[in-house]
Amino acid sequence: MPRLCVIEGDGIGREVTPAAVEVLRAMVPELEIVQASAGWQTFQECGVSVPQETLAAVRECGAALFGAVSSPARKVAGYRSAILTLRQELGLYANIRPVCSLPVVSARDNVNLVIVRENTEGMYAGRERSDGKTAIAERVITAHASRKIALRAAEVLRLKGGRRLTIVHKANILPVTDGLFRDTARAALEETRHPCEDWEIDEMLVDTAAYQLAAAPQNLDVIVTTNLFGDILSDEAAHWCGGMGLAPSLNWGEDLALAEPVHGSAPDIAGRGIANPIAAILSVAMLARYHWGLPAVAERIEIAVHQALEWDLTGRDGRMLPDLRTDEVTKLILKQLEYAY
Ligand code: NAI
Ligand code: MG
Repeated sequence: MPRLCVIEGDGIGREVTPAAVEVLRAMVPELEIVQASAGWQTFQECGVSVPQETLAAVRECGAALFGAVSSPARKVAGYRSAILTLRQELGLYANIRPVCSLPVVSARDNVNLVIVRENTEGMYAGRERSDGKTAIAERVITAHASRKIALRAAEVLRLKGGRRLTIVHKANILPVTDGLFRDTARAALEETRHPCEDWEIDEMLVDTAAYQLAAAPQNLDVIVTTNLFGDILSDEAAHWCGGMGLAPSLNWGEDLALAEPVHGSAPDIAGRGIANPIAAILSVAMLARYHWGLPAVAERIEIAVHQALEWDLTGRDGRMLPDLRTDEVTKLILKQLEYAY
């Protein structure tokens, strides 16, 4: 029986996670839910952003849904980002961020790409120091993590039926760190690619990749890259699926996975019941596809989302998606699930 640890977090995390759980429950009625806490409010109450019990609960369930958390923009003594802590403590080394055209007015047609972001090191290794005049951040790249993320990207490419795996880096300026990433990733990909497989391995500098994601996203397939580049490029790419409210992701380790909408806690709209739950709903679909090995469940949820959005595009009752409340969008998707085969 699948078990899911639900970490609502802060802000709209508390609004979109119940919606995603409701949709998942409609598909997997025997799903067992365990609630756990993390985030800014948890830090204020307990002095840590991720309590040990939360880590234990995720490990025990093997799967989690994380809403979003708020993080202070300045250093706060004792505070460590909850999502970074979860990713690092739980060995969730891959962040899978697909961007597919959705039937909404702001999306671009024929986009179907996946960004596979290294999730545990790089610029987010947490090694920053300052003497007040000079501030230094250390960027950690290891051959071990570079190899693992490349192999995982190949796995994602195979599941997607992809044709091109692009290593994105900045080895011209960072030859030591990104040179190691690029060379290790390329060697691992060449080693794993079976002679009868016909996908190609290529590479691109990160600034060119940023341009290509804006100019011709339909030409990109699977991208593998380091932590900071993946973070930035995936937010940029999210525009083509229709925006932050629609962009899902999955943090994927060896035996653990944590579904997470790409967006944050959205304090500007939190508490008003108007957050779009689709990013969270598509994130649990990813959990079903990649981690639980239930592609049929994932597909039904995705079809229901598409159908709900198509219904929305027709504007049948005169209102478009941005005017609908979280519970109305959820109901629309639940209704479509009945027909989504
Ligand atoms: P954000 O993603 O929370 O919001 C950016 C914009 O998108 C806002 O205008 C917001 O209203 C809108 N938006 C986001 N999700 C939406 C949804 N589901 N439906 C409708 N509109 C949506 O990013 P922002 O404002 O930069 O950060 C706010 C807080 O979230 C900060 O404390 C930041 O540290 C945190 N954050 C947390 C993340 C996480 O938990 N994984 C990721 C990014 C930011
Ligand atoms: Mg981001």
